[in-house]
Amino acid sequence: MSTDNALQSLNNFLADDQLNKEQILALIELAINIKQHPSDYSQALAGKSVAMIFEKPSLRTHVSFDMGINKLGGHSLYLGQQNGKLGERERVSDYAKNLSCFADLIVARVFSHDSIQGLAEHASIPVINALCDVYHPCQALADFVTLAETYPDLSQVKLAYVGDGNNVSNSLMIMAAILGVDFTLVSPEGHDAQADIIEKTKQLAQESGSKLHLTNDINAIGKQDVIYTDTWISMGDEDASKKAEILAKFAPYQVNHALMAKAEATMLLHCQPAHLEEEITTELFDSELSKVFQQAENRMWAQNAVLVTLLVN
Ligand code: NVA
Repeated sequence: MSTDNALQSLNNFLADDQLNKEQILALIELAINIKQHPSDYSQALAGKSVAMIFEKPSLRTHVSFDMGINKLGGHSLYLGQQNGKLGERERVSDYAKNLSCFADLIVARVFSHDSIQGLAEHASIPVINALCDVYHPCQALADFVTLAETYPDLSQVKLAYVGDGNNVSNSLMIMAAILGVDFTLVSPEGHDAQADIIEKTKQLAQESGSKLHLTNDINAIGKQDVIYTDTWISMGDEDASKKAEILAKFAPYQVNHALMAKAEATMLLHCQPAHLEEEITTELFDSELSKVFQQAENRMWAQNAVLVTLLVN
């Protein structure tokens, strides 16, 4: 078993913009291959151990990494907060150096992207970003695996993200721009994507020739194939005193059947956990248009493609 040449230079999986189009397409192809032929990869990680640091709660990420690593014949160890907050009980650099003594790879879900960068800088083993405040690259890769399963030519897809400009939308828009996918971000004023991510994405879209449309006007969503949404309040941003204000401000941006019909969209994606009747209606989430569980399953195949890429060869 060997990975595509385009992937040979990957040492970490930290942020979407570290990848080029060829590498993303190769990872998508590998994920689909592992999904279709899991037994071919059942010993790919034999003898390898993965340390998984979680500073924030997780269902899909924790389970899909743990069970995915098991399906590749490897071993994973969950490290929650019982050993103290990352960077407080001991420095991030020491955490990275210690884990490098025992493990073959680090998966980390952290509050700050600086922690991911610190781990990658000081570990002598690969690091995978399993969500931080700025990026969620494992999610975006799984999302494009999901899209590739329906749309053989990704460059023809029109994808809109409606809601809070956050880690999920950042990763999605960057990957879309690299792949040449037309992308629309509809967010309430004051909840747009951060300026540096917009600049980066604009440049990538220009290089790939894709369209990037950023708007605060939900009525300007235009014709789309796929609508994606995520929670209006991300982990780490919870502030009970602001919740009522956020819910009121975001209410017009709820993704529901009417919005899908207006955009003529035929696929609904959500990274989950969903806050039903907030960013998405229960009716739409449970409908035929919703591919959220296919998307959730693809987390595992996408991550397994990344694990095989970083640990085999
Ligand atoms: N934007 C969400 C994604 C959860 C998977 C958060 O960071 O909480």
